[in-house]
Amino acid sequence: MIPVEPQSWHHGLVARWWSLFRDSGPEIDYFRPFVEAGQPALDVACGSGRLLVPYVAAGLDVDGCDVSADMVALCRQAAETVGGSPNLHCQAMHELDLPRRYQTIFVCGGLGLGSTREQDQEALRRLHDHLEPGGRLVLDNEVPYSGAAQWSYWPAGQRAGLPEPSGPPGERRLGPDGFEYALQSRMLGLDPLQQQEAWEIHASQWRQGVLVAEETHRLTSNLYFCAELVMMLERAGFTAVEVRGEYNDLEPTPDDHFLVYVATRGKTDQVRPE
Ligand SMILES: C[S@@+](CC[C@H](N)C(=O)[O-])C[C@H]1O[C@@H](n2cnc3c(N)ncnc32)[C@H](O)[C@@H]1O
Repeated sequence: MIPVEPQSWHHGLVARWWSLFRDSGPEIDYFRPFVEAGQPALDVACGSGRLLVPYVAAGLDVDGCDVSADMVALCRQAAETVGGSPNLHCQAMHELDLPRRYQTIFVCGGLGLGSTREQDQEALRRLHDHLEPGGRLVLDNEVPYSGAAQWSYWPAGQRAGLPEPSGPPGERRLGPDGFEYALQSRMLGLDPLQQQEAWEIHASQWRQGVLVAEETHRLTSNLYFCAELVMMLERAGFTAVEVRGEYNDLEPTPDDHFLVYVATRGKTDQVRPE
């Protein structure tokens, strides 16, 4: 695999794309009852607030945290438009160090991005420690075999096509700010031993048909199988770990693209001294 340092791409135009065009999805309704049942809550890797902003608008007590300062700024703006002013922090989850403890912590689409595996294990430990005893972590994670195209690169001898060639700019979308945007991503490498993918994204912005900005970012993503993530959660200190299907609360199946992990901090757990 071509060497790519752990990094994430949710900055600049990519962050703007998220704030302009990513405002829906089944995750919003799925995570909400967990938050309603246990507040205060923390949205880790909150991004531009796709989940956090509707929850805050509904009067729920939710803080947010993200490694990208651009995402945090866009989240803050979006929260203000619904009259909210949640506590938002710019921190990587493996360095999470917040003044508050939570009944619920949720992570949607954030684990394993731009981090090492050791950092992911440390992140889970810190998420555990930021919960009140009896509190719950709800975490989704895409399974490594969810996409046939990416999975086809796992066997030996099948990775000659990587890095994938650059494609033309993706479909242009007109934002409410009057600019058009397009994203085009390609896989750079896959390392089955490290269970890590590397990706590149090219973001373009036009004003009245004239290209005004272009950016290229890279993203690494650590891939986790179900049993492995359950063990990591247990190692982080969680006493009960349930796995559920793709945003449906059913038993997980081999055909789910995403799994949801609901991990509980023990009720009698000693709170570690800060
Ligand atoms: C796929 S987006 C999901 C955003 C939001 N949770 C949602 O579902 O709309 C991933 C987010 O994770 C953030 N992120 C990536 N690595 C992170 C890390 N190590 N710690 C905290 N946030 C991280 C990115 O900046 C980005 O905002």
